[in-house]
Amino acid sequence: MRKGIFTLAAGAAALSLGLTACGGDGGGTTTAQGGGASSSAAPAKPGKIGVILPDSKSSARWETADRKYLSEAFQAAGVEFDIQNAQGDKNQFQTIADQMITNGATVLVIVNLDSGTGKAVLDKAKQQGVATIDYDRLTLGGSASYYVSFDNTKVGTLQGEGLVKCLTDKKADKPIVAELNGSPTDNNATLFKNGYDGVLKPKYDSGEYVKGPDQSVPDWDNAQAATIFEQMLTSEPKIAGVLAANDGLGNAAITVLRKQKLNGKVPVTGQDATVQGLQNILAGDQCMTVYKAIKKEADAAAGLAVALAKGEKPTVSGSVKDPEGNRDVPSVLEEPQAIFFENVKDVVADGFVTKDELCTDDYADKCKEAGIE
Ligand code: BGC
Repeated sequence: MRKGIFTLAAGAAALSLGLTACGGDGGGTTTAQGGGASSSAAPAKPGKIGVILPDSKSSARWETADRKYLSEAFQAAGVEFDIQNAQGDKNQFQTIADQMITNGATVLVIVNLDSGTGKAVLDKAKQQGVATIDYDRLTLGGSASYYVSFDNTKVGTLQGEGLVKCLTDKKADKPIVAELNGSPTDNNATLFKNGYDGVLKPKYDSGEYVKGPDQSVPDWDNAQAATIFEQMLTSEPKIAGVLAANDGLGNAAITVLRKQKLNGKVPVTGQDATVQGLQNILAGDQCMTVYKAIKKEADAAAGLAVALAKGEKPTVSGSVKDPEGNRDVPSVLEEPQAIFFENVKDVVADGFVTKDELCTDDYADKCKEAGIE
């Protein structure tokens, strides 16, 4: 059945799992362990790990960050792995999963495209004795053994607070706020919205802000986001702030605002600290983004996957409630960070983007101003 050739660098098999994590309800340090169980017996060859990424258009992160950091972590652990991208195609997603299992994967790490197909893949894997991890997106009603992500409600809270800061800086009076939400099929989009609405709703209710158009963008599709925002701005030309759920949606709104010469006047939020998002911030067209240190997320997921591939049962201290499956999913959640013009340099210092890719000719002066050396 298994035709894998293990490219195990001698001695690299022992991956130490020191996962620092925050649990669903508050935090604490988590150590995923399970190692050492077979100290006297000869260690069995670890199984193969399959990872399915969702697409390469809804955010640059999947190909530029997640694939890179996961590969590096698996390579360092010396395990055999296969990372594929479903390119937004749900049938393809299921086909890839089937193929990975046929090819000997004993652990499957997925970023679902929606909970329905995610659940089908997870349940089928489980039936075949394949261990599963929900990576970044929780599959509602699913059967993953672990969930590794960020505190996504906190991501939304930072976006809401960020927009408030930028509107305050602009001394906006009773600003009309538009919301461009993520995909309705992504549980994260729901959590982000819970987070930012938690900040914005009291302001709508008190009359300090005015609630403007509020729409979800199917599949986080950036092109559709531009069309949706164009319609929002036509129906409500006085939009004074845009809560966009990620950098791609934010850029779509900024593109539309530019045509009306409103860029820079209307603050727009984002998420993912993409090169484009950070450049929009440097240019003054985007108010903030949320940086998620994907290396930490990838390292945590890889640590669990490697332990599972060795037949261990790693423990984590956090958990997240799956409201649909009505179960607590053992979880590792990392902390997000708000990024404004002043601290774009933190993202560079962390090695997430390089000065070379960020500070191209058009942005060189702004980079200097932002203290990016
Ligand atoms: C991720 C975001 C990403 C979005 C679109 C979400 O589930 O958490 O980082 O921007 O999907 O891919």
